[in-house]
Amino acid sequence: MKGSIVEVLFTHEQIQQRVAELGSQISADYQGKRVFLVCLLKGSIVFTADLMRHITPPVTMDVMRASSYGSSTTSAGSVKIQTDLDKDITGLDVLIIEDIVDTGRTLNRTLELLKVRHPNSLRICTMLDKPSRRVLDIDIAYTGFTIDDHFVVGYGLDYDEYYRNLPYIGILDPNG
Ligand code: IMP
Ligand code: MG
Repeated sequence: MKGSIVEVLFTHEQIQQRVAELGSQISADYQGKRVFLVCLLKGSIVFTADLMRHITPPVTMDVMRASSYGSSTTSAGSVKIQTDLDKDITGLDVLIIEDIVDTGRTLNRTLELLKVRHPNSLRICTMLDKPSRRVLDIDIAYTGFTIDDHFVVGYGLDYDEYYRNLPYIGILDPNG
């Protein structure tokens, strides 16, 4: 396993508290509706699993997989959709769940693809936002935490596929 954690940014407790807050906010906003969650694999698995248990309106969900990062810590620049949704989302209130918005390329491509399928609404919920790295402007409805330009791992986020299982979010030194 490469690298080492140099600092804990958000503890398990801080994350759980924020996720509960986001869940309440989403529940209030979608009252009287049904929510269709789109979990962007693989990074959003942990966040989606926690968040959906704090959403009180009826929830259905599916997964999607887009690739942008390989084993490095810099964006590859192009985004490929590798796994698409199973069913039509026409008329649904779709909430995309993302682990982190960095350049915005992944979400921009994902939004392009989903918009043309005519959902009733299409919003984004991200655990982390790194606005200083943004290349494409993205409208984010719900954000867990805004962070500076660090490469972070844990709570679903990986470096070379490792560290996803950490219960906290930490800054990684890839050479440490
Ligand atoms: P974007 O397309 O540049 O916005 O990148 C989004 C994707 O890159 C996320 O879904 C993550 O999988 C990955 N990513 C961006 N920043 C980090 C990071 O700090 N740690 C781990 N993965 C990251
Ligand atoms: Mg990743």
